[in-house]
Amino acid sequence: MAERKVAVVTGGARGIGRACAHALAERGFDIALVDLLRPEMERTAGEIRAIGRAAMVIEADVADHARAREVAATVEAEWGRADALVNNAGRSNPKGILDCTEEEFDRTIAVNLKSCFNYIQAFVPLMRRGGGGRIVSMSSLNAHTGGVTSAVSKFAYASAKAGILGMTRALAKELGPEIAVNAICPGIIETELGNSLTRARGAELAKKIALGRVGKPQDVARMVAFLCAEEPNFITGQYFIIDGFQWEI
Ligand SMILES: NC(=O)c1ccc[n+]([C@@H]2O[C@H](COP(=O)([O-])OP(=O)(O)OC[C@H]3O[C@@H](n4cnc5c(N)ncnc54)[C@H](O)[C@@H]3O)[C@@H](O)[C@H]2O)c1
Repeated sequence: MAERKVAVVTGGARGIGRACAHALAERGFDIALVDLLRPEMERTAGEIRAIGRAAMVIEADVADHARAREVAATVEAEWGRADALVNNAGRSNPKGILDCTEEEFDRTIAVNLKSCFNYIQAFVPLMRRGGGGRIVSMSSLNAHTGGVTSAVSKFAYASAKAGILGMTRALAKELGPEIAVNAICPGIIETELGNSLTRARGAELAKKIALGRVGKPQDVARMVAFLCAEEPNFITGQYFIIDGFQWEI
């Protein structure tokens, strides 16, 4: 019997993370979901089991460094390995530079950027013990464009998401050849986070997207699953923009 493959998906309860969990389960991974939303995680876990894979639900705040180590210890105790880590949990911040408090800035960096440090540091030893692995972190098109001035996410979010790109390149060098590290930069994707934007301006935005529509979580998940599962692999230290080409928005 083939050995089990394990993927850890933060923010896996809903949205892009849920779609990543589905796509990875379809590629044969058992899925550990890490999120704050227990009922939504239980729903996603049920969907993974319906695909025929095992699912584990772990309630945790990804900004919590010590908790990340506990999560890694739980995954190791239950399943003995981690082959893929998807750092997907994130939260927008709509405040401009003069309105954003120090606490709000720190929290945005902690949830979107420090979370990647927390989970990569916690899971690398386990990945190495299993012979290697793949890490994919969710950045954003905002890291490149600075975002939309009227949008849900402004400079603090863009700073965190740009930080992920530097971390990805540096860790690809530090963790290779056993572990590949890449990032995804989604454009406008229809999820709970993206919905306030798509609801308000969906039709107008679609006109400015070369492929004529906003994205679906599955559009992002397909690339994540490819980066986590494709063999042989010669891709690391890269980012992939999944936006239907909307650079000017
Ligand atoms: N939707 C978009 O248009 C879009 C665009 C670019 C980047 N992104 C990024 O994609 C990722 C997923 O976003 P989404 O649109 O699916 O959002 P979403 O709000 O639908 O889902 C995010 C998930 O992360 C979880 N989460 C948030 N903070 C957490 C924390 N501190 N600890 C644990 N879990 C936490 C939430 O509970 C939720 O389940 C995020 O990193 C987001 O920044 C989204």
